[in-house]
Amino acid sequence: MSAQKARKLAAGNWKMNGIKASLAEATALAEMFPEPKVDILLCPPATLVAPMAAALFGSKVDVGGQDCHMKASGAHTGDISAEMLVDAGADYVILGHSERRADHGETDHIVAEKTIAATMAGLAPVVCVGETLEQREAGETLGVIRKQLSASLPDAVDLEKLVIAYEPVWAIGTGKIPTLEQIAEVHDDMRATLVDRYGDGANGIPLLYGGSVKPGNAAEIFATSNVDGALVGGASLKAADFSGIVKALEEA
Ligand code: 13P
Repeated sequence: MSAQKARKLAAGNWKMNGIKASLAEATALAEMFPEPKVDILLCPPATLVAPMAAALFGSKVDVGGQDCHMKASGAHTGDISAEMLVDAGADYVILGHSERRADHGETDHIVAEKTIAATMAGLAPVVCVGETLEQREAGETLGVIRKQLSASLPDAVDLEKLVIAYEPVWAIGTGKIPTLEQIAEVHDDMRATLVDRYGDGANGIPLLYGGSVKPGNAAEIFATSNVDGALVGGASLKAADFSGIVKALEEA
């Protein structure tokens, strides 16, 4: 058991989905949770960060980006900086998602640099780790996660703000999830690894599970050891679905 209890967070990652009309889902969610017992976060595509932050102003739902550049500004066409996300109204940023690692060649080192940039800008980084199916089948899961955690996180982190998401690559968008024992094994190991490196304060870091979380399986996942919330893709797009996950976390 953790000495200090971690904050609970239900986070939605809209990925490359959503146009202005989709903001109605965000405001509907905020209306369902005027006084939530857990933290709620939506990370829309970059084009919607500012309008979503405006639409949710005064509500209890926070907004985050899905990536930021490691540099503060400069000649990086198509990229956005951590400061720009803050300026647009974001409080969080997802970093090192497996889709960015795969699609954009992001290495652990790049993710660590981005985590520094986000922290310096005052954003809460949601740093993602996770093994592939090949790695799991080869029995390498814990070693892969330890290495990703070690190299994707800088020495200087803000323990009050840092969030970690464990997302097995093979569970993302597939409807497959690890067994609860497998989730507990990874989350317990991540907690121990983080406490080892950062001290007792790391007991307060929210450890999210991500990969095919739905309203129907959320409660059992949230009852699992060292799971403090979820990073949700598909089921975060509609308030009707995501609200079921938020409720399950409130009741966990
Ligand atoms: P799904 O919930 O659609 O499986 O996506 C998980 C994810 O990658 C969230 O970042």
